[in-house]
Amino acid sequence: MTQQKQKFQTIPGMHDILPSEIKTWQFLENKARTIFECYGFTEIRTPLLEDAQLFERGIGSETQVVQKEMYTFTDRGGDVVTLRPEGTASVVRAYIQHTLQRDNPQLKLYYMGPMFRYERPQKGRLRQFHQIGVEFLGEDSALADAEVVIMLDRFFQSLGLGGRYTLQINSLGTQSERLPFIKKLQSYLQQRQHALCEQCQKRLVTNPMRVFDCKNQSCQNEFVDAPLLINELEPSSRQHFDIFCEELQRAGVVFEINPRIVRGLDYYERTAFEFTSTQLGSQSAFAGGGRYNQLVEELGGVVTPAVGFAIGCERVVLLLQSLQQNASEAPRTPGCFFVSFDENSLKKARELTQLLRDHHIPAETPFLLKSLKSQMKRADKSGLAYAGLLGDAELKQSQVLLKDLVTGVSQNVAFDDILPFFSHKNSQK
Ligand code: HAM
Repeated sequence: MTQQKQKFQTIPGMHDILPSEIKTWQFLENKARTIFECYGFTEIRTPLLEDAQLFERGIGSETQVVQKEMYTFTDRGGDVVTLRPEGTASVVRAYIQHTLQRDNPQLKLYYMGPMFRYERPQKGRLRQFHQIGVEFLGEDSALADAEVVIMLDRFFQSLGLGGRYTLQINSLGTQSERLPFIKKLQSYLQQRQHALCEQCQKRLVTNPMRVFDCKNQSCQNEFVDAPLLINELEPSSRQHFDIFCEELQRAGVVFEINPRIVRGLDYYERTAFEFTSTQLGSQSAFAGGGRYNQLVEELGGVVTPAVGFAIGCERVVLLLQSLQQNASEAPRTPGCFFVSFDENSLKKARELTQLLRDHHIPAETPFLLKSLKSQMKRADKSGLAYAGLLGDAELKQSQVLLKDLVTGVSQNVAFDDILPFFSHKNSQK
């Protein structure tokens, strides 16, 4: 008896992105490149593996990401390495390592790619997920904070997501403003300690501002009158926040001030923001970011103010897919699937297919002659806009019977006119 071979599956929280979804991903990525480059951002690509300490120092040793979610292991040479859980620390490492500020004191960078966090998988929460991120280094102005948020909002609008999300903003003050505030918050929480969940009791000691993220309603009830940092900002941080808000308003960006936004990574100060959508269930944040003026110095560089964000691609794809479900069928690609009636016309079909492909026009035809029905079925499934029918009569008259697969309308096009016909269709794309 032959033994059945084991079939492998992706490991939990890590997904294949299948051909049926790839158009949505490419749409997202291409739009990001086009828009971000209009604002002067250039792409940077950093390795997936970094020294584990980069993230411990960069993100903060008390954060959930560092404490519980990092894929950290010792490699064969004995080095402790981590699969990157986010992109900011890596970009800052590259900025310092290659003294990038030498070429340009104001550096605008973007990146896209997989990130890894060992979280409990659920809808919109994966262990390998993808981010598109932006880091604007070397500028302290609130106008830079506004510029990246305006760009991000315009980007989501251009994807067709307008009206489907909320932008929430906050100011986290500077470290010196936070210290006295944290003491005040701790004493408020200590008075209610008995009513808090276990995690909030821990956070009260390790990272009190994160208690606001608790999903527990009874904890949230205790926080109703908690002191808020935004009410205790010093004049320079207040002014920074006011300029940020005014600039967003000027650009027509709709936002809400949410004094409870803390963010999960420790490097933020002053501006913090999140884009959320009620259509995503419990994993509602699909982009987030803020200002981080201490991180470059913390990672060994010279003091450099910076601001940035990252988009959670899987969550944006979920939003785009729900849009597409409501929309009519996806548009077909302006190319041709050639259908042949006999071996002679198949030869011509292969020739015309090559001609179109050589001119970067999508074209297909079968390798072997199949029934007309099965070829038409393949033409329909190909996503191409036309079927080009070739039989004895067409060969004699040196023409193709082109059938528009959307309208069903057919027309004869001479062999010599096939290339101009499809070139014109592609230039209209
Ligand atoms: P973050 O808020 O940790 O920020 O992540 C940004 C986005 O990545 C989230 O809003 C979410 O959409 C997505 N995301 C995070 N974890 C997961 C997951 N397990 N599964 C699916 N999506 C996820 C950062 O990473 C910062 N580096 C952003 C930044 C850049 N701040 C300044 N510059």
